[in-house]
Amino acid sequence: MRRVLLAAPLAAVLLASPSPAAAQPWVVAPASDGADVISQLFWFTLVLATIVFVLVEGLLIYSSLRFRRRAPLPTREPPQIHGNTRLEVMWATVPALILIGLFGITVSRLGDLSQIPTDPNTLHISVTGRQFQWEFAYGNSGVKSNDLHIPVGTPLVFDVTSTDVIHSFWVPDLYGKIDANPGRVNRITFKANKPGEYRGVCAELCGAGHGGMLFRVEAVSQGEFQQWLQQQQAGAGAPAPAPAPAPTPGAPAGANPADGAALIPQKGCGACHTIPGIPGATGNIGPNLAGVASRNRIAGGAVPNNGPDDLKRWIMNPPGLKPGTAMPNLGLTDDEATKIVAYLETLK
Ligand code: CUA
Repeated sequence: MRRVLLAAPLAAVLLASPSPAAAQPWVVAPASDGADVISQLFWFTLVLATIVFVLVEGLLIYSSLRFRRRAPLPTREPPQIHGNTRLEVMWATVPALILIGLFGITVSRLGDLSQIPTDPNTLHISVTGRQFQWEFAYGNSGVKSNDLHIPVGTPLVFDVTSTDVIHSFWVPDLYGKIDANPGRVNRITFKANKPGEYRGVCAELCGAGHGGMLFRVEAVSQGEFQQWLQQQQAGAGAPAPAPAPAPTPGAPAGANPADGAALIPQKGCGACHTIPGIPGATGNIGPNLAGVASRNRIAGGAVPNNGPDDLKRWIMNPPGLKPGTAMPNLGLTDDEATKIVAYLETLK
């Protein structure tokens, strides 16, 4: 009884926490047609299992109560029973039929899920996992991002791969998991049907930074998506900013973006990052920094980015903020970091 009393509040908490999509991934609040199929399968299995559980436990409890030893104790041994062919055949065939049925339904649903759409409006997104971040490339637009942006109502095809070890791409609200294997492209497809912000994770232990290999998914209308894509295309080819005028009185000292732009090549940031407006900064080991200032999380989702201070804290000590990150501590001085951040903050 005590256990029941303890379990009840716990169950209540678990059942009451299908929080807003952005807060916690929630597998049974599908926001895409693919997740819908998975969720139906989940509920079907759960209901079936519950019926079996209640039936079996009910019979067990009933038998224990009904046939328990009662006083006065019987003087004779009760009749002994050996085997019951009909019962035995039944308890072997019924579970077998249930399992075969479930298997059949699962296989057919999996078949539906892996139908690659032939719709000409299909958007292909290449997903690349690497220790410890994700990169998304959109069709042949040339746009790359570390957060996933998707249009609602458009069939999406994801070509998922990895450049190093095995990762697993998973946005619980939108679809099941798919492995990202080096040297191989795994394909999944779904159509998001609810705008919103979702959370994506890496679902395969891939090294020290695995827990921080997160990303944000923004599902927006077709129009907003196109606008974002064009904005990114424009941003990616932007020329270096003109030298800024002398800092206005009252502006924080050293916060001149042009100083930062001059410093970035010296610090070698461009060997790993593509940075719009910095000549020669075309690396693709780390994230593309186009739009970095508008991301509310950086470092593959591991570090909050609510303004210049957060960004500065990150570039001054990456391994301290995200253990296992490939980004080294460059030993930037406070002044250097302020200047670099001033430039990065222009990349909206
Ligand atoms: Cu990548 Cu875990």
